[in-house]
Amino acid sequence: MVHKENEIQPVADTGRPTAWRCTVCGFVFHGEKPPKGCPVCHSPTPEFIRDGQRAPLTYEGEPFDVLLINGSTHRAGNTGHMADLAEEILREQGIAYRRYNLSEHTIDYCWCCYAVRAESCTYPCRNKNDDMPAFHRMLEASKAVIIVSPINWNSMSVRLKAFLDRTTCMENLYHLKKPGHTEGKIAGILVQGHEDGAIKTAMDIWLNFEQMGYILAPFGIGFRTHGSEFNSSTDREFFRNDDFIVRQAKGVTSNVITLMKEGLEERLKGRLVPVTE
Ligand SMILES: Cc1cc2nc3c(=O)[nH]c(=O)nc-3n(C[C@H](O)[C@H](O)[C@H](O)COP(=O)(O)O)c2cc1C
Repeated sequence: MVHKENEIQPVADTGRPTAWRCTVCGFVFHGEKPPKGCPVCHSPTPEFIRDGQRAPLTYEGEPFDVLLINGSTHRAGNTGHMADLAEEILREQGIAYRRYNLSEHTIDYCWCCYAVRAESCTYPCRNKNDDMPAFHRMLEASKAVIIVSPINWNSMSVRLKAFLDRTTCMENLYHLKKPGHTEGKIAGILVQGHEDGAIKTAMDIWLNFEQMGYILAPFGIGFRTHGSEFNSSTDREFFRNDDFIVRQAKGVTSNVITLMKEGLEERLKGRLVPVTE
């Protein structure tokens, strides 16, 4: 089983106190342990990771089953909790998976070469300066994706939007009538937020994968919102004591695994007609 949460190299031991970086705002703290919350953005302690030389994300090419993406600004917030629940099922079922929290990675905005000329948008992507080339290769190598997102203004987080924009070069292969790498793969989508926009957020995410030839797992969208009686100060406790979010996250993950095991990607090879815009 493959499970890699991130591949940031910790700094070499210099005898100095460990440097801890807040993955939300970038504040760096020196000490044996991360601080009790970030003094700059007020994020809680779990948002801190060891700071170090940030080598670009690499991927050595070993195929695996499921790519699990936490698209939140917070690696360990409510979206992170939903991703943890998905991970429980992946582990229980012995699935080879990799989880990435986008807040720990550098993903530039899309250069939108496609908007200049469809042929100018090439795969591999022209922008090789960040972590996205490794994610492209992992999308190619995995059989399924599970995307987890918070609702931000009735849609996905901006980090996830940047990630999805950067898949344009994979989608564009079909548009250019070149062999693609993603048709027949399976997708599952998990969303959480306060009150509005969960379905729209899920559909915004899904439309991206649909254009890459992914198949949405049956009952492949799960979401959980709460009413106005909860707010950002109380919602962490709400989500962590909520059975409904457990059923949503674990159910979708299980359905992704079940469909993935049907081997549709192999069986559909060469038989699909790409319909893209
Ligand atoms: C910029 C911003 C916009 C938001 N917009 C919405 C929204 O449209 N609908 C909603 O239900 N919640 C909205 N929320 C609330 C978040 O979805 C909620 O706080 C979520 O639990 C955050 O997930 P996280 O802990 O992974 O960051 C918004 C939060 C932020 C910061």
